[in-house]
Amino acid sequence: MTPVKIDSVPKEKAPQSVKGMHDVTPPQQEVWDAVRTAVSLCAHNYSFSRIDTPFLEHVKVFEKSLGVDSDVIEKEMYILTTKGGDVLALRPEGTAGVVRAYLENGLSRLGSPQKLYYEGPMFRHESPQAGRLRQFTQAGFEIIGGVNDPLYDAQIILIAARIFDALKIKHIQLHVNSIGCRVCRPIYKKQLIAYYKPLESQLCEDCVRRLKTNPLRLLDCKKQQCQKLKADAPNILDKLCVTCSQHFKEVLEYLDELGIAYTLSPHLVRGLDYYSKTVFEFLTTEKTGVEIGAVASGGRYDYLAEMMGGKSTPAVGFAVGFERVIEIMKAQQVVLPQKQVKRVFVAHAGELAKKKALKIIEDLQKAGVSCAESLARESLAAQLKVANKEGATLAVIVGQKEIYEESVIIRNLALGLQETFPLHRMVEEIKKRLKGA
Ligand code: HAM
Repeated sequence: MTPVKIDSVPKEKAPQSVKGMHDVTPPQQEVWDAVRTAVSLCAHNYSFSRIDTPFLEHVKVFEKSLGVDSDVIEKEMYILTTKGGDVLALRPEGTAGVVRAYLENGLSRLGSPQKLYYEGPMFRHESPQAGRLRQFTQAGFEIIGGVNDPLYDAQIILIAARIFDALKIKHIQLHVNSIGCRVCRPIYKKQLIAYYKPLESQLCEDCVRRLKTNPLRLLDCKKQQCQKLKADAPNILDKLCVTCSQHFKEVLEYLDELGIAYTLSPHLVRGLDYYSKTVFEFLTTEKTGVEIGAVASGGRYDYLAEMMGGKSTPAVGFAVGFERVIEIMKAQQVVLPQKQVKRVFVAHAGELAKKKALKIIEDLQKAGVSCAESLARESLAAQLKVANKEGATLAVIVGQKEIYEESVIIRNLALGLQETFPLHRMVEEIKKRLKGA
């Protein structure tokens, strides 16, 4: 008989994260924190209030707003049907959910316009590549309600630019366009059809279909054969109605006034149906260090509330992709602000003292002094090695003798000098030393 090895477990391949979805591990958190801080500082400075909406929405929230023939709706949504028969989608973007929440919660009652911002994961079933993920993080800024003043279009663009400034990101190019309104866009669409119809045989399969349903989409197709044809397509800026033309002119005047450089891109249309008038994208260039397309993008969406069954509500906004920003920061070797190190390290010498050490950390914590530790290590030398690695300047050490004497040792780690203090004076002494350092 072959002996059975009772502790042998069959080796299985360790589980991997889902394709296009990544962990953000502790060493990566520093740069993520820098991005989160830049976003929340801008939100604070420009008076935006935070809104959080669920990751799951009824699928019609997106179908009604992004357009049934958009890439996101046609190909990229993660959809699930619940046991009760509800059809839900993992949010592919934030704007539709925010407008749904604005209408559902009657946020217009809180004042007009509402300036809202959010941050969190979005999900799109795209082909993963550099800067293109299936789960990615966006921060979005939306100004909803009030009047469709071009000032707000400019302020939204300004905030995106300020986030890049705060993160010291350079060589991002702003592209702007206006895609008109319900009055002038249909005329432009007819001209697009007239231009593309004779070229139909050269278009990709999707675009042949979209030529009938939504010709504007042809300008947004990423396939090379369609990109080539775009160059000679009619220019929407020549076809804008007087109102849209004036609106766009004022947006550009505000940008000039603010000193924000831009490129006019008359073929920029954006891939989602809810836009009208101003649209924009901040794109990487050859100089950026990585070419990953749009880093932040957005525009005006005056019809979205209506498309969802609400009242006509002017709105404008943008979203910035964290992973793309971080790719650029890495490529441009942006130096992050010094991480706040925990300056006090608590260490023990011996089993009895270990119990006391946990209590010492609590006493310091309560007094507002956060501490680092490596209490599971037995040797004091090993613990102090960690203290040095973490950059702590002071160590509070407790051993057998200190327990009997109700005292602690406070050691200046840089100078290697130490003194003993009564336990009841520890907090006061540590605070004094931290202030004086
Ligand atoms: P979007 O252009 O689809 O617009 O996405 C905004 C930003 O999210 C992009 O500029 C990019 O940085 C990032 N992003 C998009 N897809 C991916 C992906 N697969 N992987 C990594 N990053 C990605 C919107 O979502 C609109 N809701 C923006 C908006 C807000 N418009 C008005 N208000």
